[in-house]
Amino acid sequence: MTVLRLDRVSKVFGIVQRWLGRRPGAEVRAVSEVSLALDKGERLGLVGESGSGKTTTARLIVGLTRASAGRIEIGGRDVTALAPADERHIRRTVQMVFQDPLSSLNPKKSVEQIVMLPLIAQKIGSARERLDRVKELLDQVGLPQRYRHTRPDRLSGGQRQRVGIARALAINPDLLVLDEPTASLDVSVQARVLGLLGELQKKLGIAQIMVSHNLGVIRHVADRVAVMYLGRIVEEGSTAQIFGSPAHPYTQALFSAIPVIDPAERAQLPERPELKGEVTSAAYIPSGCAFHPRCPRARPDCSSVRPEPTAIAAGHTVSCHLYPLPTLPLLRRGRSEPDGVSRAEHDQTVGKK
Ligand SMILES: Nc1ncnc2c1ncn2[C@@H]1O[C@H](COP(=O)(O)OP(=O)(O)OP(=O)(O)O)[C@@H](O)[C@H]1O
Ligand SMILES: [Mg+2]
Repeated sequence: MTVLRLDRVSKVFGIVQRWLGRRPGAEVRAVSEVSLALDKGERLGLVGESGSGKTTTARLIVGLTRASAGRIEIGGRDVTALAPADERHIRRTVQMVFQDPLSSLNPKKSVEQIVMLPLIAQKIGSARERLDRVKELLDQVGLPQRYRHTRPDRLSGGQRQRVGIARALAINPDLLVLDEPTASLDVSVQARVLGLLGELQKKLGIAQIMVSHNLGVIRHVADRVAVMYLGRIVEEGSTAQIFGSPAHPYTQALFSAIPVIDPAERAQLPERPELKGEVTSAAYIPSGCAFHPRCPRARPDCSSVRPEPTAIAAGHTVSCHLYPLPTLPLLRRGRSEPDGVSRAEHDQTVGKK
């Protein structure tokens, strides 16, 4: 069963004065034509440098931001085409857990009030039933009942994140969207919160989309990984495919930052280029493949032709002119292109075979 499907979803922010250094009238393309599908119980990791559009994608999915274009289907229904009341009803099945639990939890309310609020807002159950549900949720996230009347500022970071998760679980979502859920926690607490999220998937079959800068975390928790660069998904595949045989030069460079201790494993990895230059701003997205100014393997057509997603293995897609790779030795070197052939030339040659 497909829990979520995004079909070419984009988000363009208009210019706001307080965003310094941008021309009046310029737009920020935070997310461009993102397509994704997630099955029940599946866990997707969303990775990419700062400013690549991960949080905006998360906010689009949970409805905190309106899409500028594209379709968002939740449980098979296009929420972008629904009346607001119906949309709210469908969107209950998708809940978000934020990076900073303290700023996302009302400091004036007790844990019990915070976790109960979604039940009250959705008019679910009697007062007694709601209280029972809150107790059950605290058990589920491993927070002792004695904290029910405590305010979030009196809790540790890990406890607060458990409150955030309990609140997100209150109305039985099918999908949790977690934006850097463990970034503010220290390592041992992080491990326990990740353990809890793993249990939620196994026991309740809750699908999860996890945004994280920590590739070690993603490797540990995700079934599939999507890599974003300047608002686009440039590569998507199973966790084994993305970590074992990253195809996009950006993914290869991003993942070269992970230390590989085992020499045998290191020897098997593809050669990993260094990433040069700073990430460009979403206000000035380069033409063609947006990664071309930083790409160690860029070719002339990369600056003019945008690569489309191409399947290179079952469940593994990449948007890069290097694929499908011209592995055949008969390919001539292009006259004006010392480092290979153009896409058109490649296609022609392969077509002739
Ligand atoms: N409300 C907004 N108005 C204008 N621009 C925005 C707004 N929100 C985000 N952006 C811009 O959209 C782009 C993507 O931002 P986003 O927060 O989604 O990135 P991110 O991948 O989550 O980054 P990080 O890893 O730093 O959290 C950035 O260039 C950001 O400056
Ligand atoms: Mg973010």
